[in-house]
Amino acid sequence: MLSISKLQINKRQNEMPGKITLTMIKPLAVKKGYIGDILSIIIKSGFKIRAMKYLKLSIDQAKAFYKIHEDKPFYNNLVEFMSSGPIVAATLEKENAIEEYRKLIGATNPEKSEINTIRNLFGTSLEKNAVHGSDSDENAEIESDFFFSKLERY
Ligand code: CMP
Repeated sequence: MLSISKLQINKRQNEMPGKITLTMIKPLAVKKGYIGDILSIIIKSGFKIRAMKYLKLSIDQAKAFYKIHEDKPFYNNLVEFMSSGPIVAATLEKENAIEEYRKLIGATNPEKSEINTIRNLFGTSLEKNAVHGSDSDENAEIESDFFFSKLERY
């Protein structure tokens, strides 16, 4: 049996700093039944799932997750939408994960997103754009820690 400190060291050795991103499949995409299709695209594109959860955010949890946007005019609507139904949250790993995942999901606004990207295929509007993707290595760590403890990341 490993001691807690050894478990923590093993977790750090397994993880590849700078090679992860955090995604959420947003409530409307979940409601429309797109979880399987989206995960299939993610896996076929070479991302490894390091952690995953199906859950519903409370208003306070959605506020905390999107705190970086609290001054934006769309913040309240975004928080309300993100807590309106279940989501899938996952930490994904790949070389250049942030950039590669942003390429795979396309522009924030599905109407402006590149053809066959996830947001282009499954997004409905700027707010209901099917999936979230971290915008930096630092935020990927912060966002992964938001959803997953060390013992939930493999
Ligand atoms: P996401 O990747 O989850 O990060 C922040 C979210 O805010 C973004 O996707 C969009 O869904 C949403 N967002 C960004 N800009 C706007 C905007 N101008 N109006 C409404 N929602 C926005």
